[in-house]
Amino acid sequence: MKVLTVGGGAREHTIVRKLHFDGADIYAVMSNENPGIAKIAEDYLLKSGREIDEVAEWAEEKDVDIGVIGPEAPLGDGIVDVLEERGIKCASPKKAAAEIETSKEFMRDLQTKYDLPGKVEYRPFEQIEEVEDFLAHYEGELAVKPVGLTGGKGVKVMGDHLENKKEVITYCEKVLEEEIGGKSRLLLEEKLQGEEYTLQVFTDGEEMIPMPLVQDHKRLFEGDKGPNTGGMGSYSQADELLPFVDQSLYDESVKIMRETLKALKAEDIPYKGILYGQFMLTAEGPKVVEFNCRWGDPEVMNVLPLLETNYVELCEKMAEGDISGIDILFEEKASVCKYVVPEGYGIDPEGGNLITLNEKAIEEEGAQLYYASVEERGGDIYTTTSRSLAIVGFSKKLEEAELVSERALRHVKGDKIHMRHDIGKPESIKRKSDNIKDIRGDMT
Ligand code: AMP
Ligand code: GLY
Repeated sequence: MKVLTVGGGAREHTIVRKLHFDGADIYAVMSNENPGIAKIAEDYLLKSGREIDEVAEWAEEKDVDIGVIGPEAPLGDGIVDVLEERGIKCASPKKAAAEIETSKEFMRDLQTKYDLPGKVEYRPFEQIEEVEDFLAHYEGELAVKPVGLTGGKGVKVMGDHLENKKEVITYCEKVLEEEIGGKSRLLLEEKLQGEEYTLQVFTDGEEMIPMPLVQDHKRLFEGDKGPNTGGMGSYSQADELLPFVDQSLYDESVKIMRETLKALKAEDIPYKGILYGQFMLTAEGPKVVEFNCRWGDPEVMNVLPLLETNYVELCEKMAEGDISGIDILFEEKASVCKYVVPEGYGIDPEGGNLITLNEKAIEEEGAQLYYASVEERGGDIYTTTSRSLAIVGFSKKLEEAELVSERALRHVKGDKIHMRHDIGKPESIKRKSDNIKDIRGDMT
């Protein structure tokens, strides 16, 4: 089976490694040469994936059987529509379905129209005067969201990034004037308070198979401080739950995903591939922060390496739009993923610095290494201004998986790199569980 993959980050390195392990020949499209993907692929094309026609022509030339698209941007551009018109079925959603991520307004409107569980209060704005009028009468705290894609960095929340209404107005002005997210339009949403977690599912639009939960860490610094990033690391447990999410909350989250897929179907928008739900566990239960139309980064690294089911067959079935009858099994292990990023990442990054690492030693510790954005020159690895690579430790228990990730990180060295050591550590987990106890009392 020849599989076209699009994307060159750690997410796609994970996808490529698993597809290859399960028997696929990989034809990869990526904007930078990811050394991990380049090593595995039969052939690759250095493009971002947004040059859809070029990618489709190349895929046809290579005679690929199916496509698996990693990042949201090409999905939002409609790469699946074009590939499928040319007879290449994809295990990823078409443009209309990708709107669940590419338009935050579409997603919130869908929740409202179908009165879906987990919905939140929101309002769209295009004029700064209307924002000012609205805020003059609004008592609570808010999140400001550009409606389009911003790589996870466009949302600003009162109390976290914005001090007061004046700062909210200034940021709204910037979003509208600079068209952050591609449009002069934004949402103001009620601020959700609690702990965030991720639930990813495999789906053909009707059948839906949920995966183990993961908790990502968006903030740059230890203790969940500093600016939001693309994600600094994540953990998962062997029992598929999280320390602050029990079975009944997991089931509630699964129900929200199911109802959302039903609503898409009712809108005549078929969905296939991975649906990613970002939830906030609040005093009122799980609420939807966002949906993504693809694997999460870093969350894919916690889950996909543990998939025991043949991923190539699963992708083939998703591409055909029928996953009924496939047994999906995960190895019962905990995982802790930590990203290594260049110093200044998320603020004023400095790229071009050497990272030395010993892949064999990392594997011998029971961990895996996934490359993100690095440059390989003369056999050496250099940082760029984006996240460099991720280390994932696996073990039966979460505490052990964390220790594995730390032991593996000792084989990654560089003068100008940064990582969050606290991810998955008992003190960090306790802080999150205590936060939920404060917010929800003894409901959990
Ligand atoms: P998004 O791009 O929608 O994933 O938002 C990025 C981050 O902003 C989320 O992971 C949350 O931490 C935060 N966020 C988004 N929406 C809200 C909200 N309504 N209330 C509080 N925080 C939010
Ligand atoms: N982990 C956040 C994302 O993939 O968007």
